[in-house]
Amino acid sequence: MSTKRFYSSRFYLVRVFVLAVFVSHFFACSKSYEEGKTVIGNKAMVVTAHPEASRVGIEVLENGGNAIDAMVAVHFALAVVYPAAGNIGGGGFMIYRPVDGEVSSLDFREKAPLAAFEEMYQDENGEIIDGLSLAGPMASGVPGSVDGMIQAHKKYGSVPLKELIAPAYKLAKKGFYITEKQAKNYNRYKSVFIEQNQDSTNIPLVRFDRKWQEGDLLVQQDLASTLKRIQDNGRDGFYKGETAQLLVAEMKAGNGIIELEDMAKYEAKWRTPITGEYRGLKVYSMGPPSSGGIALMQLLKMSAHFPLGDLGFHQAKTIHLMTEMERRVYADRAKHLGDSDFWDVPKDDLLDDGYLKSRVDEIHLTNATDSEQVLAMNFDHQESEETTHYSIVDANGNAVSVTTTINSGYGSKVFVTGAGFLMNNEMDDFSSKPGVPNVYGLLGGKANAIQPEKRMLSAMTPTILEKDGELFMVVGTPGGSTIITSVYQTILNVVDHGMDMREAVSSARVHHQWKPNFIFPEKGGLEETTKSALEEMGHTIKERGSIGRVDAILVNEKGLLEGAGDPRGDDWAAGF
Ligand code: DON
Repeated sequence: MSTKRFYSSRFYLVRVFVLAVFVSHFFACSKSYEEGKTVIGNKAMVVTAHPEASRVGIEVLENGGNAIDAMVAVHFALAVVYPAAGNIGGGGFMIYRPVDGEVSSLDFREKAPLAAFEEMYQDENGEIIDGLSLAGPMASGVPGSVDGMIQAHKKYGSVPLKELIAPAYKLAKKGFYITEKQAKNYNRYKSVFIEQNQDSTNIPLVRFDRKWQEGDLLVQQDLASTLKRIQDNGRDGFYKGETAQLLVAEMKAGNGIIELEDMAKYEAKWRTPITGEYRGLKVYSMGPPSSGGIALMQLLKMSAHFPLGDLGFHQAKTIHLMTEMERRVYADRAKHLGDSDFWDVPKDDLLDDGYLKSRVDEIHLTNATDSEQVLAMNFDHQESEETTHYSIVDANGNAVSVTTTINSGYGSKVFVTGAGFLMNNEMDDFSSKPGVPNVYGLLGGKANAIQPEKRMLSAMTPTILEKDGELFMVVGTPGGSTIITSVYQTILNVVDHGMDMREAVSSARVHHQWKPNFIFPEKGGLEETTKSALEEMGHTIKERGSIGRVDAILVNEKGLLEGAGDPRGDDWAAGF
């Protein structure tokens, strides 16, 4: 079995050393937790996309807060320190496993505004208007993050909300030091921000004097004021009053359709998680309006028919079988999945053992199936830094898995003037027209057509696994259409290929999504011989940039917590 590490140990050690020097310089040595790319903890762990957010979370846990308290603090902190995806202008999903109770899931996905309609991104000839669902005010759904955090906190939190938002407020007000990756990213997006905003002089991420550099201080005064309004007024500090008025004014200044009524009506929803078994483990993941849980469970249930561990990690046969399963699962997704409040999702049929076995039986062991038409579309992603996932375990063993997004990097690119936050471009996750792929190449139809107040279909897959009734893994990732296959692979890496959390997270990923009909490995991730063998089976390989940023926690055989932040980003674990 090849367990070649995509991101080598040396790479880790150098980065960890450099970051550790950076960290110790700014933060005196009084802390009693460990932090780094990968960390072993006895009791508690927080893994997020940014060191500052991980610190905020672990400090809440150190001071006796629970996993939900840490989640709230992390979520608001990410809105400040990770504006590419951390947000209050977007939405997401949470899976929560209390140590002594039922697993629950919360849907705080954005909703289509009341004035939305099915053809809103088409011209008079029925053609899609390029970019309309992706950039600018019309691309935004009604944000759900703030209500999601507040609802979860009301039900399970133990520390006052105001205290949990305080670290984020401070990071916005006093500033924080940006990383090298962030500096590069802000410089890269400068012209886009200027183009998409009425007044670029107040955009915190745009600097006119010189280019951003690593270690620059980023201060966000308007965002601090918005956070203060939420601290003081809770839900109403965002969905009513000044923040809502500023948001609606920003929408109206462009072609946006979100009104005060949309804001006032928004409510996150508690949903029944998708549950299932994989090789004796119990899996909990997110149901509609995310496709993640159903698709992941379909993949795992089909995988149980194959000895993937014996076939070997990244061996041609293994990748072939995974590809064939993925092809079928993404075809089901396109047809059957949408917001279950509006569309009858045949969940039981899709997860039926007999049905999945019949799909497995269709798979030829050495020949690729044709995905019918291969779409000619540009799938050459830049590094994907959009969306973000965080995993948390508290000292009592409560675990929370959250994936949140404003969709593509920096969402609609529109900052709410005076309120300092970015709005999402989540409307692109709807199927704007049957047969026309979204930005991730995903197809859809009626099930995911636009309707007022409907939630757009997501691929986000926050997941928690149990072994023998105890917590086993907390996992999730960004990556658009690749989210489902990245979570799937991380689980296989541990369960079938015997990897620890760090190796499972750092190993190269390979993706297939039915259409376009390519196997997408990360560049350099597969051996030449493996690629040739796959081509001989009839597959077409198209290498691409990095896939996903998995932030995960594993309870290992000694009962210790292995926290792993993805080496592809600034992701960071902190634990004690
Ligand atoms: O909900 C979804 O599936 C997408 N809006 C997620 C976007 C995403 O992960 C972008 N990250 N690379």
